Amino acid sequence: MQAIVSDIHGNLEALTTVLEDIEKQEVDEILCLGDVVGYGPNPIECLDLAMEHFKWVLCGNHEWALVNQPVGFSPAAKRAIELTRELFEKETDPVQAERRKEFLFNLEPNVEDGNVMYVHGSPKDPIMDYVFPEQYSRFWTEEKVDDLLRTVEWVCFCGHSHVPSIISSTYESFVPTQDTESYTLDPDKVYIINAGAVGQPRDRNNKACYALWDGKTVTHRRLAYDHETTAAKIRAIGFDEKLASRLAEGT
Ligand SMILES: [Fe+2]
Repeated sequence: MQAIVSDIHGNLEALTTVLEDIEKQEVDEILCLGDVVGYGPNPIECLDLAMEHFKWVLCGNHEWALVNQPVGFSPAAKRAIELTRELFEKETDPVQAERRKEFLFNLEPNVEDGNVMYVHGSPKDPIMDYVFPEQYSRFWTEEKVDDLLRTVEWVCFCGHSHVPSIISSTYESFVPTQDTESYTLDPDKVYIINAGAVGQPRDRNNKACYALWDGKTVTHRRLAYDHETTAAKIRAIGFDEKLASRLAEGT
């Protein structure tokens, strides 16, 4: 069984809550679809946990922004990346600093494992493109689904939109609404599955989200965590207020 996590965004309280839950499941490996950093107050601690516990981490748009430049970011996200970069630069242990830098500079944009693909964004652009479930997008058409799934053999796992969902090649979409909700896949259909966000959910549910995958069934899990502590740290560090308040709202 795999645990698939994404969009941790420097939220240590959410990440430790998710890791504790994963420990209670029969998980063989933890895979991360990117955005370990950005928005949140503990990017270094989250990156260290990622390096310690995850089989691999994909390059999210926030890692890309950190090692390159923030492109298409809102002012709040851009400022958060600048402050995140300052936190990394303040690191006094040169060995640790180099280890993290080496890790961040060598993240892959996608991983393929048989007929299962993993990206941060979408199969069309593994780092930057967004996939939202039908009810969240005015622009969703059958042509768009066909185009999106063109290069997917069976399943593509993604993150980036922070909205857990499953979309199939027969134009069905499934959005989990319970704290634990499973969906068994049809081997004759093709799917894109968003694992949800650990550290900044945006589906008006403030619980941390991740997915379990046993090769047949996807289970999205939601976990309450101490978002007030995370929000207080965000305010103390000087990130945009919206980045603090949105954690309680799940937006
Ligand atoms: Fe993200």
